[in-house]
Amino acid sequence: MRDGHATSSARPGGAPFESGDPRASGRAYVIVLGNEKGGSGKSTTSMHLFAALAKQGFRVGAMDLDLRQQSFFRYLDNRQSFATRKNAPLILPQREQIKASAASDRKTAEREDEARFAEALDALSAGNDFVIIDTPGSFSHLSRCAHAAADTLITPLNDSLIDFDMLGRVDPATGKVLGPSVYSEMVWMGRQMRAAAGKPAADWIVMRNRLSMLDARNKRHVAALVERLSKRIGFRVAPGFSERVIYRELFLNGLTLLDLKEPAADVKVTMSHVAARQEVRDLMRSLALPGVDASRV
Ligand SMILES: Nc1ncnc2c1ncn2[C@@H]1O[C@H](COP(=O)(O)OP(=O)(O)OP(=O)(O)O)[C@@H](O)[C@H]1O
Ligand SMILES: [Mg+2]
Repeated sequence: MRDGHATSSARPGGAPFESGDPRASGRAYVIVLGNEKGGSGKSTTSMHLFAALAKQGFRVGAMDLDLRQQSFFRYLDNRQSFATRKNAPLILPQREQIKASAASDRKTAEREDEARFAEALDALSAGNDFVIIDTPGSFSHLSRCAHAAADTLITPLNDSLIDFDMLGRVDPATGKVLGPSVYSEMVWMGRQMRAAAGKPAADWIVMRNRLSMLDARNKRHVAALVERLSKRIGFRVAPGFSERVIYRELFLNGLTLLDLKEPAADVKVTMSHVAARQEVRDLMRSLALPGVDASRV
């Protein structure tokens, strides 16, 4: 097993930091996966994003704010045990585990959560190029803290109108987008907080997930709504992932589509896997993270 920290350099290829890159001022670039709708692909995308960055030699820190399910950290636990079991050279991120405040008074609990979040982020930021923060599929104050800290916010969205409802309200009679929903309002408030603190606005990216190979009508409908809302509330739209069984199969061994060539993975690579990997590459290209060369994913 190989810990990403021991072997990677701060800037692969020694490239200078671009202007606006927070790493020029000694802190990591923060990527948050957020959508208060459950099961949209936040943890799956967190894991693939981690693998894509780690494979390029970036040092990555990880936080899982889904304190009940801990899917991202469970995924990483599985990776760790697979690497030990098979003696496979799999990279792992540095992790920080947070506990929510147990204070009964809401204000006190929020203050404690903010302090704990800031402490964990500082610990990860110091020695990493990127920090990936996975958030739960429901509202929490810790999740709000993460949204306010995001340099890039990625919102995976299942290709269904029920899931779209978490982003924007649609008039059932006309099909028109009426405005942002409660989650979009929260993101918007996070942006305001960043602006008040003199920080640049987060790059907010919505990526559609579990795209069906068949249901063309629904696909077009959701695509049109996402496009309309993006202009209205200011996010970018990235190409997403198709619906593929492989995503569910990889979890138990903690593997990603980017690990399939690893001999220990013992997976027969199919055309579907190759196409899925291309989707990860396309997502990375579209995210345009500073210093990341998507063609190397
Ligand atoms: N593109 C995909 N194709 C097929 N299955 C997928 C895809 N993306 C995610 N899944 C599966 O959908 C389920 C939900 O994904 P995931 O756990 O990543 O979502 P989440 O947003 O983190 O959920 P939660 O809100 O509960 O934390 C998992 O079983 C995962 O394996
Ligand atoms: Mg999750």
